[in-house]
Amino acid sequence: MKRSQSRYVCQACGDSFLRWEGQCRACGAWNTLVETLVREASPAVHRRSPPASNSAPVPLANLSEADVARIPVGIGELDRVLGGGLVPGSLVLVGGEPGIGKSTLLLQAAAGISRAGPVLYATGEESGAQVRLRAARLGLLDGAAGAAVTVLAESSVARILESARAARPTALVVDSIQTATVDELEGPAGSVGQVRESALRYMELAKGDGIAVLLVGHVTKEGSLAGPKTLEHLVDAVLSIEGDRSGALRLVRATKNRFGSTEEVGVLEMGEAGLREVPDPARAFLGEHASAEPGSVVGATLEGSRALLVEVQALVAPTGYGTPRRTAIGLDPGRLALLVAVLGRRAGIGLGSHDVYANLAGGLAADDPGLDLAVAIALASTFRDLPVAAGTVAIAEIGLLGELRSVSGLERRVREAARLGFTRAIVPPARASGPASPGITVVAARTLREALDDALGPRDG
Ligand SMILES: Nc1ncnc2c1ncn2[C@@H]1O[C@H](COP(=O)(O)OP(=O)(O)OP(=O)(O)O)[C@@H](O)[C@H]1O
Ligand SMILES: [Mg+2]
Ligand SMILES: [Zn+2]
Repeated sequence: MKRSQSRYVCQACGDSFLRWEGQCRACGAWNTLVETLVREASPAVHRRSPPASNSAPVPLANLSEADVARIPVGIGELDRVLGGGLVPGSLVLVGGEPGIGKSTLLLQAAAGISRAGPVLYATGEESGAQVRLRAARLGLLDGAAGAAVTVLAESSVARILESARAARPTALVVDSIQTATVDELEGPAGSVGQVRESALRYMELAKGDGIAVLLVGHVTKEGSLAGPKTLEHLVDAVLSIEGDRSGALRLVRATKNRFGSTEEVGVLEMGEAGLREVPDPARAFLGEHASAEPGSVVGATLEGSRALLVEVQALVAPTGYGTPRRTAIGLDPGRLALLVAVLGRRAGIGLGSHDVYANLAGGLAADDPGLDLAVAIALASTFRDLPVAAGTVAIAEIGLLGELRSVSGLERRVREAARLGFTRAIVPPARASGPASPGITVVAARTLREALDDALGPRDG
Protein backbone atom coordinates (compact mmCIF):
# COMPACT_ATOMS: atom_id res chain seq x y z
CA MET A 1 0.00 0.00 0.00
CA LYS A 2 1.20 3.48 -0.82
CA ARG A 3 2.25 5.19 2.38
CA SER A 4 0.88 8.66 2.84
CA GLN A 5 3.18 11.03 4.61
CA SER A 6 2.76 11.68 8.25
CA ARG A 7 3.96 14.79 10.03
CA TYR A 8 4.00 15.88 13.62
CA VAL A 9 1.85 18.96 13.87
CA CYS A 10 1.98 21.30 16.85
CA GLN A 11 -1.51 21.70 18.30
CA ALA A 12 -0.57 25.10 19.68
CA CYS A 13 0.96 26.90 16.68
CA GLY A 14 0.24 24.56 13.74
CA ASP A 15 3.87 24.20 12.66
CA SER A 16 4.80 20.71 11.49
CA PHE A 17 7.91 18.56 11.90
CA LEU A 18 9.22 15.28 10.54
CA ARG A 19 9.90 13.70 13.90
CA TRP A 20 8.23 13.78 17.26
CA GLU A 21 9.87 16.00 19.84
CA GLY A 22 8.84 16.85 23.36
CA GLN A 23 8.96 20.56 22.74
CA CYS A 24 7.77 22.47 19.67
CA ARG A 25 10.73 24.20 18.11
CA ALA A 26 8.54 26.92 16.65
CA CYS A 27 6.55 28.09 19.66
CA GLY A 28 8.23 26.32 22.57
CA ALA A 29 5.09 24.55 23.84
CA TRP A 30 5.59 21.15 25.46
CA ASN A 31 3.94 17.89 24.35
CA THR A 32 1.87 19.52 21.66
CA LEU A 33 3.10 17.56 18.62
CA VAL A 34 0.53 15.12 17.24
CA GLU A 35 1.14 12.71 14.39
CA THR A 36 -1.07 13.75 11.49
CA LEU A 37 -1.53 12.50 7.94
CA VAL A 38 -0.66 14.97 5.23
CA ARG A 39 -2.93 14.82 2.20
CA GLU A 40 -1.77 15.92 -1.22
CA ALA A 41 -4.24 18.72 -1.85
CA SER A 42 -4.98 20.35 1.46
CA PRO A 43 -3.73 19.79 4.96
CA ALA A 44 -5.77 17.36 7.05
CA VAL A 45 -6.77 20.05 9.47
CA HIS A 46 -8.82 21.89 6.88
CA ARG A 47 -10.26 18.90 5.10
CA ARG A 48 -13.59 18.49 6.80
CA SER A 49 -16.56 18.08 4.50
CA PRO A 50 -17.00 15.52 1.73
CA PRO A 51 -16.25 16.52 -1.89
CA ALA A 52 -18.17 19.23 -3.64
CA SER A 53 -21.03 17.39 -5.36
CA ASN A 54 -23.92 19.10 -3.56
CA SER A 55 -22.28 22.00 -1.83
CA ALA A 56 -24.04 24.86 -3.62
CA PRO A 57 -25.74 27.36 -1.30
CA VAL A 58 -29.42 26.58 -0.63
CA PRO A 59 -31.99 29.05 0.74
CA LEU A 60 -32.80 28.33 4.39
CA ALA A 61 -36.43 27.61 3.61
CA ASN A 62 -35.53 25.03 0.96
CA LEU A 63 -33.23 22.99 3.17
CA SER A 64 -34.51 19.48 3.61
CA GLU A 65 -35.51 18.29 7.03
CA ALA A 66 -33.43 15.16 6.79
CA ASP A 67 -32.60 15.21 10.47
CA VAL A 68 -36.22 14.99 11.55
CA ALA A 69 -36.31 11.29 10.83
CA ARG A 70 -34.80 9.47 13.77
CA ILE A 71 -34.07 5.83 14.41
CA PRO A 72 -35.36 4.64 17.77
CA VAL A 73 -32.58 2.92 19.66
CA GLY A 74 -35.15 0.95 21.58
CA ILE A 75 -33.89 2.01 25.00
CA GLY A 76 -36.23 4.82 25.93
CA GLU A 77 -33.78 6.58 28.22
CA LEU A 78 -31.08 6.56 25.54
CA ASP A 79 -33.51 7.86 22.92
CA ARG A 80 -34.37 10.63 25.35
CA VAL A 81 -30.74 11.67 25.76
CA LEU A 82 -30.17 11.57 22.00
CA GLY A 83 -33.07 13.97 21.57
CA GLY A 84 -35.63 11.45 20.32
CA GLY A 85 -33.54 8.75 18.69
CA LEU A 86 -30.45 8.32 16.59
CA VAL A 87 -30.11 10.68 13.64
CA PRO A 88 -29.14 8.84 10.43
CA GLY A 89 -25.64 9.71 9.32
CA SER A 90 -24.67 11.19 12.65
CA LEU A 91 -21.43 10.54 14.50
CA VAL A 92 -21.86 9.85 18.21
CA LEU A 93 -19.14 9.34 20.76
CA VAL A 94 -20.02 7.31 23.86
CA GLY A 95 -17.54 7.64 26.69
CA GLY A 96 -17.20 6.10 30.10
CA GLU A 97 -14.79 4.62 32.58
CA PRO A 98 -13.54 1.05 32.17
CA GLY A 99 -16.21 -1.49 33.00
CA ILE A 100 -19.03 1.05 33.34
CA GLY A 101 -21.11 -0.65 30.64
CA LYS A 102 -20.20 0.89 27.28
CA SER A 103 -20.11 -2.36 25.34
CA THR A 104 -23.29 -3.51 27.04
CA LEU A 105 -25.18 -0.34 26.17
CA LEU A 106 -23.98 -0.32 22.58
CA LEU A 107 -24.72 -3.98 21.95
CA GLN A 108 -28.23 -3.41 23.29
CA ALA A 109 -28.51 -0.27 21.16
CA ALA A 110 -27.30 -2.23 18.13
CA ALA A 111 -30.07 -4.75 18.71
CA GLY A 112 -32.62 -1.94 19.04
CA ILE A 113 -31.45 -0.15 15.90
CA SER A 114 -31.47 -3.43 13.97
CA ARG A 115 -35.27 -3.27 13.99
CA ALA A 116 -34.91 -0.36 11.56
CA GLY A 117 -31.99 -1.73 9.55
CA PRO A 118 -28.84 -3.83 9.74
CA VAL A 119 -26.09 -2.91 12.19
CA LEU A 120 -22.38 -3.63 11.94
CA TYR A 121 -20.70 -4.03 15.31
CA ALA A 122 -16.92 -3.73 14.95
CA THR A 123 -14.89 -4.66 17.98
CA GLY A 124 -11.17 -4.42 18.50
CA GLU A 125 -11.53 -5.09 22.20
CA GLU A 126 -13.09 -8.52 22.24
CA SER A 127 -13.33 -11.62 20.11
CA GLY A 128 -16.51 -12.58 18.31
CA ALA A 129 -16.97 -15.31 20.89
CA GLN A 130 -16.90 -12.80 23.72
CA VAL A 131 -19.46 -10.62 22.01
CA ARG A 132 -21.62 -13.66 21.44
CA LEU A 133 -21.37 -14.56 25.12
CA ARG A 134 -22.54 -11.11 26.12
CA ALA A 135 -25.30 -11.13 23.50
CA ALA A 136 -26.52 -14.44 24.90
CA ARG A 137 -26.53 -13.06 28.44
CA LEU A 138 -28.43 -10.00 27.27
CA GLY A 139 -30.96 -12.21 25.49
CA LEU A 140 -30.21 -10.77 22.06
CA LEU A 141 -29.44 -13.96 20.16
CA ASP A 142 -32.93 -15.29 19.63
CA GLY A 143 -34.77 -12.25 18.35
CA ALA A 144 -34.36 -10.55 15.00
CA ALA A 145 -31.14 -8.96 16.28
CA GLY A 146 -29.39 -12.33 16.09
CA ALA A 147 -29.38 -12.01 12.32
CA ALA A 148 -29.54 -8.24 11.80
CA VAL A 149 -26.47 -7.39 13.87
CA THR A 150 -23.22 -8.54 12.31
CA VAL A 151 -20.03 -8.64 14.33
CA LEU A 152 -16.60 -7.85 12.97
CA ALA A 153 -13.60 -8.46 15.22
CA GLU A 154 -11.14 -6.10 13.63
CA SER A 155 -8.63 -3.49 14.65
CA SER A 156 -7.85 -1.89 11.30
CA VAL A 157 -9.86 1.23 10.58
CA ALA A 158 -9.45 0.69 6.85
CA ARG A 159 -10.95 -2.80 7.01
CA ILE A 160 -13.80 -1.65 9.25
CA LEU A 161 -14.63 1.09 6.74
CA GLU A 162 -14.35 -1.35 3.85
CA SER A 163 -16.81 -3.72 5.53
CA ALA A 164 -19.19 -0.88 6.31
CA ARG A 165 -19.10 0.42 2.73
CA ALA A 166 -19.75 -3.07 1.40
CA ALA A 167 -22.54 -3.95 3.84
CA ARG A 168 -24.15 -0.48 3.96
CA PRO A 169 -25.66 -0.89 7.43
CA THR A 170 -27.97 1.65 9.04
CA ALA A 171 -25.49 2.03 11.86
CA LEU A 172 -21.90 1.13 12.60
CA VAL A 173 -20.70 0.60 16.16
CA VAL A 174 -16.95 0.88 16.77
CA ASP A 175 -15.81 -0.55 20.10
CA SER A 176 -13.53 1.25 20.62
CA ILE A 177 -11.96 4.23 18.88
CA GLN A 178 -8.82 3.58 20.92
CA THR A 179 -8.26 0.03 19.70
CA ALA A 180 -8.55 0.45 15.94
CA THR A 181 -5.63 1.95 14.06
CA VAL A 182 -4.93 3.69 10.79
CA ASP A 183 -2.06 1.92 8.96
CA GLU A 184 -0.45 5.08 7.63
CA LEU A 185 0.27 6.44 11.09
CA GLU A 186 3.07 5.04 13.18
CA GLY A 187 1.71 6.12 16.55
CA PRO A 188 0.24 3.40 18.75
CA ALA A 189 -3.47 2.63 19.01
CA GLY A 190 -5.14 5.21 21.20
CA SER A 191 -2.63 7.99 20.56
CA VAL A 192 -4.11 11.40 19.84
CA GLY A 193 -3.01 11.25 16.20
CA GLN A 194 -4.57 7.81 15.67
CA VAL A 195 -7.80 8.67 17.43
CA ARG A 196 -8.26 11.90 15.55
CA GLU A 197 -7.44 10.45 12.13
CA SER A 198 -9.79 7.51 12.60
CA ALA A 199 -12.55 9.78 13.84
CA LEU A 200 -12.14 11.87 10.69
CA ARG A 201 -12.54 8.77 8.56
CA TYR A 202 -15.62 7.60 10.44
CA MET A 203 -17.06 11.06 9.96
CA GLU A 204 -16.50 10.73 6.21
CA LEU A 205 -18.41 7.46 6.32
CA ALA A 206 -21.22 8.94 8.39
CA LYS A 207 -21.71 12.05 6.30
CA GLY A 208 -20.82 10.58 2.92
CA ASP A 209 -22.70 7.32 3.15
CA GLY A 210 -25.43 8.28 5.62
CA ILE A 211 -24.42 5.57 8.09
CA ALA A 212 -24.86 6.51 11.74
CA VAL A 213 -21.60 5.79 13.56
CA LEU A 214 -21.41 5.15 17.29
CA LEU A 215 -17.88 5.33 18.66
CA VAL A 216 -16.93 3.98 22.06
CA GLY A 217 -14.27 6.05 23.79
CA HIS A 218 -12.49 5.15 27.01
CA VAL A 219 -12.22 7.87 29.54
CA THR A 220 -8.73 8.43 30.86
CA LYS A 221 -7.95 8.74 34.55
CA GLU A 222 -8.20 12.52 34.33
CA GLY A 223 -11.79 12.07 33.20
CA SER A 224 -11.34 13.14 29.60
CA LEU A 225 -11.92 11.22 26.41
CA ALA A 226 -8.69 10.42 24.61
CA GLY A 227 -7.76 12.96 21.98
CA PRO A 228 -10.29 15.04 23.84
CA LYS A 229 -10.95 18.43 22.27
CA THR A 230 -10.28 17.51 18.65
CA LEU A 231 -12.71 14.64 18.91
CA GLU A 232 -15.43 16.48 20.75
CA HIS A 233 -15.80 19.23 18.18
CA LEU A 234 -15.72 16.71 15.36
CA VAL A 235 -18.59 14.49 16.44
CA ASP A 236 -22.27 15.40 16.50
CA ALA A 237 -22.93 14.19 20.02
CA VAL A 238 -20.93 13.16 23.04
CA LEU A 239 -22.64 10.89 25.52
CA SER A 240 -21.10 9.80 28.76
CA ILE A 241 -22.07 6.91 30.97
CA GLU A 242 -21.63 7.79 34.62
CA GLY A 243 -22.20 6.05 37.88
CA ASP A 244 -20.61 4.00 40.58
CA ARG A 245 -19.39 0.76 39.04
CA SER A 246 -20.01 -1.14 42.25
CA GLY A 247 -23.63 -0.02 42.23
CA ALA A 248 -26.31 -0.74 39.69
CA LEU A 249 -27.44 2.73 38.61
CA ARG A 250 -26.01 4.38 35.52
CA LEU A 251 -26.61 7.85 34.20
CA VAL A 252 -26.34 8.60 30.51
CA ARG A 253 -25.71 12.27 29.87
CA ALA A 254 -25.18 14.24 26.66
CA THR A 255 -22.34 16.69 27.10
CA LYS A 256 -22.74 17.79 23.50
CA ASN A 257 -25.60 17.24 21.11
CA ARG A 258 -26.15 18.88 17.75
CA PHE A 259 -29.57 17.25 17.48
CA GLY A 260 -31.05 17.81 20.90
CA SER A 261 -30.71 19.28 24.34
CA THR A 262 -27.54 18.61 26.26
CA GLU A 263 -29.41 18.72 29.52
CA GLU A 264 -31.40 15.52 29.46
CA VAL A 265 -30.11 12.55 31.37
CA GLY A 266 -31.17 8.94 31.15
CA VAL A 267 -31.29 6.68 34.17
CA LEU A 268 -30.55 2.99 33.69
CA GLU A 269 -29.93 0.03 35.93
CA MET A 270 -27.23 -2.58 35.29
CA GLY A 271 -28.24 -6.16 35.88
CA GLU A 272 -27.53 -9.68 34.72
CA ALA A 273 -29.53 -9.02 31.56
CA GLY A 274 -27.85 -5.70 30.81
CA LEU A 275 -29.03 -2.13 31.18
CA ARG A 276 -32.71 -1.68 31.93
CA GLU A 277 -34.82 1.37 32.47
CA VAL A 278 -35.85 1.97 36.05
CA PRO A 279 -39.58 2.20 36.74
CA ASP A 280 -39.41 5.67 38.29
CA PRO A 281 -36.13 7.55 37.69
CA ALA A 282 -37.17 10.35 40.06
CA ARG A 283 -36.87 8.00 43.04
CA ALA A 284 -33.94 5.90 41.80
CA PHE A 285 -31.41 7.79 43.90
CA LEU A 286 -33.37 7.77 47.13
CA GLY A 287 -31.45 4.83 48.52
CA GLU A 288 -33.00 2.94 51.39
CA HIS A 289 -34.25 6.08 53.02
CA ALA A 290 -37.02 4.35 54.90
CA SER A 291 -35.89 4.93 58.47
CA ALA A 292 -34.76 8.32 59.73
CA GLU A 293 -31.04 8.11 60.43
CA PRO A 294 -28.92 11.07 61.55
CA GLY A 295 -26.88 12.36 58.62
CA SER A 296 -29.36 11.40 55.93
CA VAL A 297 -31.46 14.06 54.20
CA VAL A 298 -33.33 14.04 50.91
CA GLY A 299 -32.74 16.80 48.38
CA ALA A 300 -33.99 17.32 44.84
CA THR A 301 -31.81 18.05 41.86
CA LEU A 302 -32.88 19.09 38.41
CA GLU A 303 -31.40 17.23 35.45
CA GLY A 304 -32.71 18.75 32.25
CA SER A 305 -36.47 18.72 32.45
CA ARG A 306 -36.47 16.03 35.10
CA ALA A 307 -36.34 16.38 38.87
CA LEU A 308 -34.47 13.62 40.68
CA LEU A 309 -34.91 13.10 44.39
CA VAL A 310 -31.63 12.08 45.96
CA GLU A 311 -30.52 11.02 49.40
CA VAL A 312 -27.60 13.07 50.72
CA GLN A 313 -25.52 11.31 53.35
CA ALA A 314 -23.04 12.96 55.67
CA LEU A 315 -20.75 11.86 58.44
CA VAL A 316 -18.60 13.97 60.73
CA ALA A 317 -16.02 12.61 63.16
CA PRO A 318 -13.43 14.35 65.36
CA THR A 319 -10.11 14.62 63.52
CA GLY A 320 -7.52 12.29 65.02
CA TYR A 321 -4.45 14.23 64.00
CA GLY A 322 -3.38 16.66 61.29
CA THR A 323 -5.63 18.68 59.04
CA PRO A 324 -9.34 17.83 59.06
CA ARG A 325 -10.42 15.99 55.93
CA ARG A 326 -13.25 17.07 53.67
CA THR A 327 -14.40 14.30 51.36
CA ALA A 328 -17.13 14.88 48.80
CA ILE A 329 -18.44 12.06 46.63
CA GLY A 330 -20.74 13.12 43.83
CA LEU A 331 -20.61 16.68 45.14
CA ASP A 332 -18.31 19.59 44.37
CA PRO A 333 -15.56 19.61 47.07
CA GLY A 334 -15.31 23.41 46.92
CA ARG A 335 -19.04 23.68 47.55
CA LEU A 336 -18.75 21.30 50.52
CA ALA A 337 -15.93 23.37 52.04
CA LEU A 338 -18.04 26.48 51.64
CA LEU A 339 -21.04 24.87 53.34
CA VAL A 340 -18.83 23.74 56.23
CA ALA A 341 -17.62 27.33 56.64
CA VAL A 342 -21.15 28.77 56.50
CA LEU A 343 -22.39 26.21 59.02
CA GLY A 344 -19.63 27.31 61.40
CA ARG A 345 -20.04 31.05 60.97
CA ARG A 346 -23.80 31.38 60.51
CA ALA A 347 -25.37 28.44 62.28
CA GLY A 348 -23.11 27.63 65.21
CA ILE A 349 -22.15 24.19 63.84
CA GLY A 350 -18.35 24.29 64.16
CA LEU A 351 -16.69 21.52 62.16
CA GLY A 352 -13.18 23.01 62.27
CA SER A 353 -11.74 20.01 64.11
CA HIS A 354 -13.89 17.37 62.45
CA ASP A 355 -13.39 15.20 59.41
CA VAL A 356 -16.34 15.72 57.08
CA TYR A 357 -17.71 13.26 54.52
CA ALA A 358 -20.67 13.90 52.27
CA ASN A 359 -21.99 11.90 49.37
CA LEU A 360 -24.96 11.39 47.09
CA ALA A 361 -26.57 7.95 47.17
CA GLY A 362 -26.61 5.65 44.17
CA GLY A 363 -23.43 7.01 42.58
CA LEU A 364 -25.15 10.16 41.34
CA ALA A 365 -22.87 13.10 40.64
CA ALA A 366 -24.56 16.50 40.63
CA ASP A 367 -23.22 20.00 40.48
CA ASP A 368 -26.41 21.67 41.60
CA PRO A 369 -26.50 24.47 44.18
CA GLY A 370 -30.10 23.42 44.90
CA LEU A 371 -28.62 20.55 46.94
CA ASP A 372 -26.83 22.98 49.32
CA LEU A 373 -29.52 22.91 51.97
CA ALA A 374 -29.82 19.12 51.99
CA VAL A 375 -26.03 18.82 52.40
CA ALA A 376 -25.94 21.41 55.19
CA ILE A 377 -28.82 19.81 57.09
CA ALA A 378 -27.22 16.37 56.67
CA LEU A 379 -23.99 17.70 58.21
CA ALA A 380 -25.82 19.36 61.10
CA SER A 381 -27.92 16.23 61.58
CA THR A 382 -24.92 13.91 61.92
CA PHE A 383 -23.04 16.48 64.06
CA ARG A 384 -25.92 16.79 66.52
CA ASP A 385 -26.86 13.14 66.11
CA LEU A 386 -30.47 14.07 65.42
CA PRO A 387 -32.44 12.52 62.57
CA VAL A 388 -34.56 14.56 60.19
CA ALA A 389 -38.20 13.50 60.16
CA ALA A 390 -38.94 11.03 57.37
CA GLY A 391 -40.88 12.57 54.50
CA THR A 392 -38.85 15.79 54.56
CA VAL A 393 -37.15 17.19 51.49
CA ALA A 394 -34.82 20.23 51.54
CA ILE A 395 -34.28 22.40 48.46
CA ALA A 396 -32.31 25.67 48.45
CA GLU A 397 -29.03 27.26 47.57
CA ILE A 398 -27.15 28.73 50.54
CA GLY A 399 -25.41 32.11 50.30
CA LEU A 400 -22.29 33.15 52.19
CA LEU A 401 -24.40 35.01 54.74
CA GLY A 402 -26.34 31.88 55.51
CA GLU A 403 -29.37 33.08 53.57
CA LEU A 404 -31.45 30.62 51.56
CA ARG A 405 -31.77 31.37 47.88
CA SER A 406 -34.23 30.18 45.33
CA VAL A 407 -33.17 27.69 42.68
CA SER A 408 -34.30 26.98 39.16
CA GLY A 409 -37.29 24.73 38.81
CA LEU A 410 -38.19 24.91 42.51
CA GLU A 411 -41.86 24.26 41.78
CA ARG A 412 -41.05 21.22 39.70
CA ARG A 413 -38.82 19.79 42.40
CA VAL A 414 -41.47 20.27 45.07
CA ARG A 415 -44.14 18.77 42.84
CA GLU A 416 -42.02 15.70 42.19
CA ALA A 417 -41.35 15.30 45.93
CA ALA A 418 -45.09 15.50 46.58
CA ARG A 419 -45.75 12.88 43.91
CA LEU A 420 -43.28 10.53 45.58
CA GLY A 421 -45.05 10.88 48.91
CA PHE A 422 -42.92 13.47 50.69
CA THR A 423 -44.95 15.49 53.14
CA ARG A 424 -42.74 18.44 54.02
CA ALA A 425 -40.50 20.64 51.87
CA ILE A 426 -38.09 23.18 53.35
CA VAL A 427 -37.51 25.86 50.72
CA PRO A 428 -36.40 29.49 50.39
CA PRO A 429 -39.00 32.23 50.97
CA ALA A 430 -41.50 32.19 48.12
CA ARG A 431 -41.26 35.07 45.70
CA ALA A 432 -44.48 34.64 43.83
CA SER A 433 -45.52 31.22 45.01
CA GLY A 434 -47.11 29.07 42.36
CA PRO A 435 -49.96 26.64 42.83
CA ALA A 436 -49.46 24.54 45.95
CA SER A 437 -48.77 20.86 45.43
CA PRO A 438 -51.32 18.71 47.18
CA GLY A 439 -50.14 16.55 50.04
CA ILE A 440 -46.98 18.44 50.85
CA THR A 441 -46.48 21.20 53.42
CA VAL A 442 -44.12 23.84 52.07
CA VAL A 443 -42.08 25.54 54.78
CA ALA A 444 -40.28 28.74 53.78
CA ALA A 445 -37.08 29.44 55.72
CA ARG A 446 -35.13 32.66 55.26
CA THR A 447 -31.85 31.46 56.70
CA LEU A 448 -29.89 28.28 57.23
CA ARG A 449 -30.46 28.69 60.97
CA GLU A 450 -34.24 28.77 60.49
CA ALA A 451 -34.08 25.75 58.20
CA LEU A 452 -32.04 23.80 60.78
CA ASP A 453 -34.51 24.70 63.52
CA ASP A 454 -37.30 23.39 61.37
CA ALA A 455 -35.52 20.20 60.34
CA LEU A 456 -33.85 19.26 63.63
CA GLY A 457 -35.73 21.29 66.20
CA PRO A 458 -34.42 24.45 67.92
CA ARG A 459 -31.15 24.11 69.84
CA ASP A 460 -31.48 23.97 73.58
CA GLY A 461 -30.60 27.23 75.33
N1 LIG B 1 -23.12 -11.64 34.66
C1 LIG B 1 -23.28 -10.35 34.94
N2 LIG B 1 -24.28 -9.97 35.72
C2 LIG B 1 -24.49 -8.69 36.02
N3 LIG B 1 -23.72 -7.70 35.57
C3 LIG B 1 -22.71 -8.01 34.78
C4 LIG B 1 -22.43 -9.34 34.42
N4 LIG B 1 -21.35 -9.34 33.63
C5 LIG B 1 -20.98 -8.06 33.51
N5 LIG B 1 -21.78 -7.27 34.21
C6 LIG B 1 -21.73 -5.80 34.33
O1 LIG B 1 -21.24 -5.27 33.14
C7 LIG B 1 -20.14 -4.43 33.40
C8 LIG B 1 -19.18 -4.48 32.27
O2 LIG B 1 -19.87 -3.99 31.14
P1 LIG B 1 -19.16 -3.66 29.78
O3 LIG B 1 -18.24 -4.76 29.41
O4 LIG B 1 -20.25 -3.29 28.85
O5 LIG B 1 -18.34 -2.38 30.18
P2 LIG B 1 -17.37 -1.54 29.27
O6 LIG B 1 -17.58 -0.12 29.66
O7 LIG B 1 -17.54 -1.91 27.86
O8 LIG B 1 -15.98 -2.04 29.82
P3 LIG B 1 -14.55 -1.96 29.11
O9 LIG B 1 -14.03 -0.61 29.47
O10 LIG B 1 -13.79 -3.05 29.78
O11 LIG B 1 -14.76 -2.17 27.66
C9 LIG B 1 -19.56 -4.95 34.68
O12 LIG B 1 -18.86 -3.95 35.38
C10 LIG B 1 -20.80 -5.38 35.41
O13 LIG B 1 -21.37 -4.28 36.07
MG1 LIG C 1 -16.19 -2.68 26.46
ZN1 LIG D 1 4.25 25.08 18.32
